[in-house]
This record gives sequence, C-alpha cells and structure tokens, in this order.
Amino acid sequence: MALILNTGGLGYIGSHTCISLMKNGFDVLVIDSLVNSSRNNFERIKYLLNEIKVPYSGKLFFEEGDLRDTTWLDNIFKKQISINNPIDSVIHFASLKSVEESVSNPLKYWDANINSTLSLLSIMDKFNCNKIVFSSSATVYKARDDKKLDENTFQEPINPYGNTKMTIEKILKDLYLSDASKWKMINLRYFNPVGAHDSGILGEEPKSNPTNLFPILEKVVLGELEELSIFGNDWPTKDGTCVRDYIHIVDLSDAHFAALKFLENKPSQYISLNIGTGNGLSVLEIIENYSKLNNISIPYKFVERRKGDAASVVADNSLALKLLEWRPVKTIEDICLDSFRYTTKKLLI
Ligand code: NAD
Ligand code: WQD
Repeated sequence: MALILNTGGLGYIGSHTCISLMKNGFDVLVIDSLVNSSRNNFERIKYLLNEIKVPYSGKLFFEEGDLRDTTWLDNIFKKQISINNPIDSVIHFASLKSVEESVSNPLKYWDANINSTLSLLSIMDKFNCNKIVFSSSATVYKARDDKKLDENTFQEPINPYGNTKMTIEKILKDLYLSDASKWKMINLRYFNPVGAHDSGILGEEPKSNPTNLFPILEKVVLGELEELSIFGNDWPTKDGTCVRDYIHIVDLSDAHFAALKFLENKPSQYISLNIGTGNGLSVLEIIENYSKLNNISIPYKFVERRKGDAASVVADNSLALKLLEWRPVKTIEDICLDSFRYTTKKLLI
C-alpha cells in the first residue's frame, strides 16, 4: 500500500490521523521533533491498534527529527526509495500553534513554520513526491459574525501564527503555479478540533500551557483549575458567549484520508477546503452539554473579552461535503463524552 509521510504525526491531530490512514490500508511514516508531543503517543497508537483491536492493515514507522534539517529529510526520502517503499504523499501537520507565543516570539514562528515547510517542499520536489495535504486553519479568515465562512471569505489573520498559515498557503500556490500539471495540493482549513479517540487512549496532550477551551475545561475537571473563565457574556450571540464550530478529532482525521483519495483521482490540483461541522455552539452550550452528559459540575465565571476573539466563527463546509467522500458524523455528545473519558483515563495509562 502507498506510504504516507505524516509530519508532526505524534501531535494531537496527526496521531489520530495515523489511525484513520492505517484503518484504510495506508502505511504511515511519522516524522516528529517531539517539540510539542512525546514518544508515548507512538506507543499509544500501537497499543490502540493491537490491544483495543482496531482493525487495520497499514504499517506504522517513526523517525525523530526536525523538518528544517534538510539533510536528514533528504536521507529519509532516499532510504524509502532504496527499500522500494517510496513516499507517495505527505500530510503536513508539523507546526508550532500557540497564538499567544506567536505574538510574543514571532521570529520563532516564522522560522519554525515557514522554514520547515520550505525544507519539506524542496525535498518533495527533488524526489518527485507531488501530493500534499496541508494543515491550515480558519484563523486565516477575517472573522464575520453575520454569516458562515466559506473558502472565499476575505483573508486577514490577526496574529503571527495565522500569518504563517496564510503564507504557507501562498507558498504552496506559487509552487503549484510553477508547474500546474505536476502538483496536487489541498489546504484543509480546520475550525475547532476537539475531543479524543473513544478508547480514551489518544487525545490532546500539549507540552506547553494550553489556552484553548477544551484543555482548560480538562484542567477544571481534574481540579487543577478552580473554575473556567468565560471570555465575555455580552457578545452578539444567542446567549452572549462566543460561538465556534467544534469538530470531533476523529471526524477531522477522517477528512485527511478523504483528501488523499480526492487527490489520487485528480490529474493536478490546488484547492482549499473548510473542515468543520457547519454548526456553531456557544461556550455556555459546551459547558451545559459537558456537565450534563458527564454528570459533573463545571464552575465558571465571566471575565473580560479576550483580545482577538470574534463573536462567531462557523464553517460553511459545503464545498468539502461536495468534493470529498466525507461528512462529520460525531455529535456534541460524542465530543463531551470522549473528551471526559480521555481526561479521566489518561492518568491510568
Ligand atoms: P500539535 O502541536 O499537537 O502537533 C504538531 C506536531 O508537530 C507536534 O507533535 C510537534 O512536536 C511537531 N512539530 C512541530 N514543529 C516541527 C518540526 N519543525 N519538525 C518536526 N516536527 C515538528 O498540533 P495539532 O493540534 O496536532 O495541529 C496539527 C496542525 O494543525 C498544525 O499545523 C496546526 O497549526 C494545525 N491546526 C491545528 C488546530 C487546532 O486547534 N489544534 C486548528 C487549526 C489548524
Ligand atoms: C474557543 C472559545 C473563547 C478559553 C484557536 C486559535 C485558532 C485555531 C483554533 C489553530 C472562544 C472561549 C476559551 C477559556 C473561554 N487554532 N474560551 N475561556 O480562539 O476559536 O481558536 O484555536 O489554528 O487559530 O485562535 O479557540 O479554544 O481558544 O476558544 O471562554 O479559558 O472558548 O473565547 O470563544 P479559538 P479556543
């Protein structure tokens, strides 16, 4: 079966995508510097596949290293050719992703995100590996509260992290245009990925201090935080708290398999697709669902609005639904139950 290079594949989205790809018969070569993940995740993926008996037919490999090390990367591509198992396609997750850190240390973000992508693309080009799925983000859009965001929404990121995502999309497009018959490229613009594998074994485990809603919720559940601070209750939304499009991590991972299949059937391609559910939920609705479904109380208080937040960010996902053999199937119930299961179970493994 074709070998997929999964950069950043031990991180939150990449690790779940390993499962999705292997279930569908692909072999997966993960490369990761472990800057925001650990080797444990490699063991967890293998444990899950073998012990929990997820049916799979693909094989899994791992090499530790930084994408910016072009010589190392060159050797990986060379080695795969020498053993007659060349890299067929790339899913490019590897990136730094903290909005706050990108504001305080923009050069670190430009170096990590742009130089790693340039290194990857130059080696792909050299070895004639021309299929890539890129992890982009809804953060590239100028938020509009009045309607869902489609792929033509004006782009205006408001932080260095978002600027690197938009820039990488431009780099990819320039490369595509340099030889339009050769490249097959998809930018998947994720909305808010949340939840965990339903085994409770894989989930989000950032090394740095999280600022996203679900990892903070997790801290409240574990008693590491007394209460959740909700950023504002005077937004122009249904209940005054911000609305987001939360997509279950397993649905999101499956979109990568669908994206590879879509590319396989195209002569060449450069396209951007929104990956979200198309449904918005407010922070209060999340708390209500989470506490009711898991039978726990989530103490919270309202605080000032967070700088840079928008009232509502919801995907118009109709293009992805039309072009990919994919649709999100998980519910908010799945998100809350799986997230809680992982939070409470991960201490045991
Ligand atoms: P993550 O931090 O959990 O995973 C990223 C992985 O990349 C980590 O394992 C890290 O160690 C690795 N990595 C980073 N820089 C590297 C480098 N130079 N060389 C090799 N490995 C490197 O993040 P995630 O949530 O899984 O996100 C994956 C991708 O999706 C990222 O590109 C992120 O920007 C994008 N994205 C994430 C979200 C989200 O909310 N999680 C939303 C939109 C887009
Ligand atoms: C969700 C909602 C907060 C924490 C971020 C990045 C974006 C993308 C996804 C990568 C918001 C509210 C949160 C808290 C709260 N990442 N909240 N109290 O801001 O939509 O997007 O992650 O590409 O680039 O900006 O997600 O999880 O931070 O917040 O009230 O302690 O929860 O105001 O409405 P966001 P988030």
